[in-house]
Amino acid sequence: MTKEIHLKDKTFVPYISEDKILSRIKELGQELRLDYGTENILFLSVLNGSFMFTSDLMKEVTGEVELSFIKLSSYVGTSTTGEVHELIGLNQDIEGKKIVILEDIVDTGLTVDRVRTMLKMQNPSSVEVCTLLYKPDAFKGDSAPKYFGFEIPNKFVVGYGLDYDQLGRNLKEIYQLKE
Ligand code: IMP
Repeated sequence: MTKEIHLKDKTFVPYISEDKILSRIKELGQELRLDYGTENILFLSVLNGSFMFTSDLMKEVTGEVELSFIKLSSYVGTSTTGEVHELIGLNQDIEGKKIVILEDIVDTGLTVDRVRTMLKMQNPSSVEVCTLLYKPDAFKGDSAPKYFGFEIPNKFVVGYGLDYDQLGRNLKEIYQLKE
């Protein structure tokens, strides 16, 4: 693995190698197919961060799958419950479908909770979450992701799709913020 890198004002050190990421993704792909049997899985990949994970995971899931990319608008207005978000890009009927949401990272879990709530209004058969990285110590969501690649401590990471101020998404490995 390469040495430490610099993005803007921060320094990051190598954390999870490309080999480790890819072999774990292979296991995840097999686990998903085992759980869903011969059924069609509709993967909904949450942009931007999950594009690299999605691409590598798709190659490891055999059988019938569908894939759509979705995005949660950062903010479209206010209500009594706080920020109102909108789901962008979902232009297919998901009623009765077995959905797996693909995320790069589940941190507080609020993003994925919002996506899950909005999807459930359209009556899919099931909705699960598959994330490459999961920070259990930061998690405040309703239910932990069923599928995850790596549990990591509550420290900032970049690479393999994840950014620091829009930089670092192109890195093949995952780096952790240097203390
Ligand atoms: P949430 O806190 O689970 O809602 O995560 C919100 C979003 O914050 C994620 O989808 C990521 O885009 C971003 N995020 C959270 N933790 C990190 C990190 O360590 N590195 C880069 N992005 C992160």
